[in-house]
Amino acid sequence: MPLHLQQNIGPKTKLYVWRIEETFEDLFDEIHLTDWNVIRVHSMKSEQHQRGFLSVRKLFEAAGYTDFDVTYDKTGKPHLPDGHHISISHSHGFSAIIVSDVTVGIDLELMRDKIVRIADKFTSEEEETYLDRNSEDYVSKLTVIWGVKEAIFKIRNEIGISFKDHITTFTFDINSGQASARLDFENVHRHFDVKFQYVEDHMLVYAFETTDANAL
Ligand SMILES: CC(C)(COP(=O)(O)OP(=O)(O)OC[C@H]1O[C@@H](n2cnc3c(N)ncnc32)[C@H](O)[C@@H]1OP(=O)(O)O)[C@@H](O)C(=O)NCCC(=O)NCCS
Repeated sequence: MPLHLQQNIGPKTKLYVWRIEETFEDLFDEIHLTDWNVIRVHSMKSEQHQRGFLSVRKLFEAAGYTDFDVTYDKTGKPHLPDGHHISISHSHGFSAIIVSDVTVGIDLELMRDKIVRIADKFTSEEEETYLDRNSEDYVSKLTVIWGVKEAIFKIRNEIGISFKDHITTFTFDINSGQASARLDFENVHRHFDVKFQYVEDHMLVYAFETTDANAL
């Protein structure tokens, strides 16, 4: 039912967003889950998490996959059997997946003022030079920066990455929908292109390695 957005990012990269309106029961009845995921969904503590998880299975269907196609490694990172890359995020009223020929990471975040209270935990020195606490787009920018770091973490998936110390987002215009970022971690230096867009009261952010930009 509510596939909110289906967008080609490039010939080989597709973005799907679901607006979660269904009840847990409706979603559960509509989706054929692996035995493992039946156990997993019933062990989730909140109904919101359950609905997010199940709505992602609706997005798998939209992308031509089923729950049986998607496997998780021991870190929790999802994988597809056909060589495509997938990244998943769910938050409150929406869920999103991105499927690509190249490694991508996605994050969906409800925009909330309370992010200001934890800003110093995840913003880098460089980000602090351009962030303006008095600006009306401060919360939006912080939410983008948070999303950038989650998305890059999902791509790299390395234990020990610190959002504050190892990932920095270069200065960006909140109206541009794009930014770039750098990861410096244990002698690895990588650049990422980032795109972001509002999904109602959420911020959707996805990232891919700059070297992959032509392969999207
Ligand atoms: C794993 C993590 C990225 C998940 O992000 P989140 O905002 O909690 O939740 P999201 O809904 O955006 O993403 C969850 C999805 O990410 C995917 N995921 C989980 N672990 C992953 C990993 N190690 N690598 C890539 N993707 C992962 C899964 O698909 C998961 O959804 P599913 O299990 O329902 O399929 C996050 O919890 C995390 O560990 N971040 C890094 C730790 C950190 O440094 N935190 C902040 C420091 S200030």
